[in-house]
Amino acid sequence: MKLPALPDRDNLIERQSEAWRPPIFRPNATSWDSLLASARRFLDLQASSIWRDLRALLVGCNGSVLDVGCGAQPYRSLLPKSVPYQGIDTADAAAHFGYEVPDTIYFTGDRWPIDSASRDLVLATETLEHVEHSDRFLAEARRVLKPDGCLVLTVPFAARWHYIPHDYWRFTPSGLRTLLTEAGFAVPTVYARGNEITVACYKGMALILMLALGQYRSLFLSIIGRFIGALLLPVLACLAVIGQISLSSRGGNDCLGYTVVAAASSLSKGPVP
Ligand SMILES: C[S@@+](CC[C@H](N)C(=O)[O-])C[C@H]1O[C@@H](n2cnc3c(N)ncnc32)[C@H](O)[C@@H]1O
Repeated sequence: MKLPALPDRDNLIERQSEAWRPPIFRPNATSWDSLLASARRFLDLQASSIWRDLRALLVGCNGSVLDVGCGAQPYRSLLPKSVPYQGIDTADAAAHFGYEVPDTIYFTGDRWPIDSASRDLVLATETLEHVEHSDRFLAEARRVLKPDGCLVLTVPFAARWHYIPHDYWRFTPSGLRTLLTEAGFAVPTVYARGNEITVACYKGMALILMLALGQYRSLFLSIIGRFIGALLLPVLACLAVIGQISLSSRGGNDCLGYTVVAAASSLSKGPVP
């Protein structure tokens, strides 16, 4: 049986790129980089919410840290300087995401170039949704962690399809529990980042930025969009302030994303050889 195509609708499977991407993060090497990153976090509620959670979680971190899918290592500066840190990323990071950062080990395939049971903490921020086979990724995280080690993940929930086509999944707390326990982790703690208000602010800000940056195929719509977007910039600033305040909430069923903490010690499985 052959079904008709829906009229006037795009088939997204054919989409191979996006019209616009937010600028990629840069490593926080200088005070100027840190200042720019703070300014960006005011407007980027996702990054801001992750920063807040990791700042609280990593404050007393004193073991070895493996940052997987590290990109520009934007959260490295939250770790005490004395902590042994290694960032790893796929060899496709430059081609697919624009990241090529010194100090990073780039690898191919599913197996990480890291010894088994060698790390105290595995960090993976906004990476799991870009991994085609999340089960293999989590099995690797379990393998490289020491028996009392721990995994800290952040994943987006209310986020547009990005880095097209290399964005595969959105997770829920229930799905994260299934994936992590099947990979041999203990039942995770899952924190929502923000609530319905945060999501509304985030989407409103994205719309205004889309207009202001003229992200339309037609020149006419682009010009009109820029004009309306420029008029709405004060609204953007108000939404940013409200969004930032809403990040202090306990977290709602709608949210920007999740911060997940999972201990390697599960009663059901030992370390994966
Ligand atoms: C959106 S970026 C996030 C980068 C960084 N962690 C951050 O928070 O800014 C997604 C990262 O996931 C990496 N990635 C994609 N597939 C991966 C895989 N199978 N294993 C490890 N990293 C992967 C990409 O190369 C990219 O650096």
